[in-house]
Amino acid sequence: MTNIILCGGNGTRLWPISRTLMPKQFVKLFSKKSLFQLTVERNSKLCNSQLVVSNAEQYFLALDQLEELNKKNNKYLLESIAKNTAPAIALACLSLDENEIVLVTPSDHLIKNEDEYKKVIEKAKEFAYEDKLVTFGITPTFAETGFGYIESVNNFDVKAFHEKPNLQTATSYLKAENYYWNSGMFCFKAGVFLSELKKYSPEIYNQSIEAFNNASKSEIIRIKYEDMASIPENSIDYAVMEKSNIVKVIPSNIAWSDVGSFDSLFEELEKDENFNTVNFNHISIDSKNNLIYGKDRKIATIDIENLIVVDSGDALLISKKGSSQKVKKVVEKLKETN
Ligand code: GDD
Ligand code: MG
Repeated sequence: MTNIILCGGNGTRLWPISRTLMPKQFVKLFSKKSLFQLTVERNSKLCNSQLVVSNAEQYFLALDQLEELNKKNNKYLLESIAKNTAPAIALACLSLDENEIVLVTPSDHLIKNEDEYKKVIEKAKEFAYEDKLVTFGITPTFAETGFGYIESVNNFDVKAFHEKPNLQTATSYLKAENYYWNSGMFCFKAGVFLSELKKYSPEIYNQSIEAFNNASKSEIIRIKYEDMASIPENSIDYAVMEKSNIVKVIPSNIAWSDVGSFDSLFEELEKDENFNTVNFNHISIDSKNNLIYGKDRKIATIDIENLIVVDSGDALLISKKGSSQKVKKVVEKLKETN
């Protein structure tokens, strides 16, 4: 089984610690390792090869971090322009044998229950052998609108896949109890994914084949700029998963988080007796329930509650807990002024 590791995204929801030049997956948020490194370590126990798919700028970050783990001989496919996950996965699958089982994973998620993870991947492989597209379902805990929802009917069968519903719809899914969050990981045969892509998004399929055929293929597969430019942009979720009839879901109790905001990061970090996070040297006087996150500078807090304070050295973010999704508005303003 080959692990396709997607790391082309440049998530800005953790600004100021996640930046265009240092995206979230490469930031060492936990245990002195980045989410990308934790992903590689977790999946290399289950897969016999790993194919890192990213854009050219992120290649060196990935290379350095893999060297730190002493992992050599990884395969790379470099896109010159990010066109979202459908083209990224298509190009990766084109580089493999059509019968190869692939485990597609984001590089910026946290999975804490590795024993359970191993079990669900084994189960997924069984369905992948039967030519299914396998998803991993997480029991939803709130009406998140940034996720896909998998509507399940008895056991592993899927009635429909709904990507990023509005709040009203997400709230109804939460109540209905037969919906899972899509974890963003997938397992299938390379050839099965490509034939579903051909059926439902033929333009992405055809342009990806052309781009792959024109690519330079030495140790690293590099897709040419003009070829990448001609592939339509779309995610696997909209391009294939919402349309396919061969989707399965494995309920996955794997202690999963996409660490998509400071509020979700707060849930994952260790806390002291006052529920402040204790990831670094912070002096807290009568302060409760805060996420205090810094690098080198000491941060002291007095009598504050329910705040997020993030110091990256060159920028400081202060937010109320529960409002950290609005970081994207800060990033929009920064783009306007730069
Ligand atoms: N190589 C490459 N190229 N990787 C990419 C690209 C690209 O153009 N775009 C995104 N990625 C990577 C990101 O780095 C991330 O690891 C993964 O692909 C998923 O992309 P996101 O942009 O984070 O997707 P999302 O969070 O909006 O939605 C997906 O994940 C959710 C769970 O976190 C969907 O699959 C949802 O259905 C799902 O619920
Ligand atoms: Mg994401």
